[in-house]
Amino acid sequence: IPVDPFDLIIFGGTGDLAQRKILPALYRRFCAGQWHEDARIIAAARAGHSAEDFRRMVAESLHRHAAVRASESQRVSRFLQRVDYVPLDAVSAEGWGLLGEKLSPNRVRAFYFSVGPNLFGPLAERVRAYDLATEDTRIVVEKPFGHDLGSARELNATLAAHFDESQIYRIDHYLGKETVQNLMAVRFGNMLFEPLWNSQYVDHIQITVAETVGIDGREEYYERAGAMRDMVQNHLMQLLCLIAMEPPAKFDPDAVRDEKLKVIRALDPVEPHHIVRGQFSAGPEGVGYRECVGNPRSTTESYVALKAHVSNWRWAGTPFYLRTGKRLVARSSVINVMFKDAPHSIFGEEAGRHANALSIRLQPNEGITLKVTIKEPGPGGMRLIDVPLDMSFAEALGPENQDPPDAYERLVMDVIRGNQTLFMRGDEVEAAWAWTDPIIAGWLARGDVPKPYDSGSTGPGDAELLMKRDGRRWQGIK
Ligand code: BG6
Repeated sequence: IPVDPFDLIIFGGTGDLAQRKILPALYRRFCAGQWHEDARIIAAARAGHSAEDFRRMVAESLHRHAAVRASESQRVSRFLQRVDYVPLDAVSAEGWGLLGEKLSPNRVRAFYFSVGPNLFGPLAERVRAYDLATEDTRIVVEKPFGHDLGSARELNATLAAHFDESQIYRIDHYLGKETVQNLMAVRFGNMLFEPLWNSQYVDHIQITVAETVGIDGREEYYERAGAMRDMVQNHLMQLLCLIAMEPPAKFDPDAVRDEKLKVIRALDPVEPHHIVRGQFSAGPEGVGYRECVGNPRSTTESYVALKAHVSNWRWAGTPFYLRTGKRLVARSSVINVMFKDAPHSIFGEEAGRHANALSIRLQPNEGITLKVTIKEPGPGGMRLIDVPLDMSFAEALGPENQDPPDAYERLVMDVIRGNQTLFMRGDEVEAAWAWTDPIIAGWLARGDVPKPYDSGSTGPGDAELLMKRDGRRWQGIK
């Protein structure tokens, strides 16, 4: 379904995110026929390129990041005709007049701040000062949304001074992933799971986001952030919310975000002995973290595992174990809902005890597996074994759904549609920082040093102990 005509202004249009993610996503939506014929992109950045130079840069990026084939060259040129460029300075008057001249009336106007958070304020101020905002104006901002609660509050206040919350779209790209949205479909579109989705039946939940990549090219940012700020405060927190939240009455932005906020606010502070930090050391695939960042004494974590408790009626007594790390053995994001044992085994203890488990694979090989117990085949009596009821989206939905669309495709189009459901509200982000900050402050106060783990491994041994102490174990990463 085509969206309304729009002018999408990308501040930081020459930057890595714009070239690698935003523009390729827009191109794919263009190819899908979702653009109105009047829709346009105006990139703005400090560099004094001509529009022609900029289009060449975009064409190269599309080849690199959107797998554009030679046969598509005409479509690429049609797309590029819709792309314009304005040299502009976020902190002075330069370029703003010209930008104003290029905008059309009566269209959705989306200003995408694909820049560091220090420029959010100056940009928001100038969009207002040069009278570029209309009724139909939206502001899109990227993570990191602040560094802690104080800075997130400041950013929220800065944006709120110029725009209404209903105009602000804070991106967490995990919410745009097809399979992450599927979490809601699985939970709230089926009768099967919801009655069991509570501490009476669920023993614990594991959320794993394992990556094989390191931090190449982002050393400076990462050294200041670490895994807690880079992944846990946002992406893992969002996954936890979608798994733990109460059913919203409607799939509408505030109904969904109200429920997520309640989950974050119900999180207990994490006990220091319920959290493990790790830092990768050298391995066959490359150098260790400290060498990467050129700081032999760095205490930034590239891995976190922790046990969280959502203190409410639904989840009291069911822990949530979260882990994420870089340079691990495999790329795998998966949520495992581990059910309790049946209350009584009619086959006797010797038949074996087998609890059910529901695995939701977010990436790669997206799908769902339900571990069920059946009788071991053969005449040897009643012995029980586990078998998987396995559903891979690629197989179930056919080859055309083999590659789910990139998260940005969905998110950028939702901005144009004016649908905030998959974007974080200001209070949600602040609540997530309010939970994260004391954890980080505790590390600093104790002079905590992350545990080294081998690149290409499953993370530090202490993360296994975290589970073992509770008589549980992590499900495999591969
Ligand atoms: C980003 C983090 O937000 O998400 C990166 O800054 C991380 O460190 C990335 O690698 C993971 O995203 P994806 O989509 O590859 O799982």
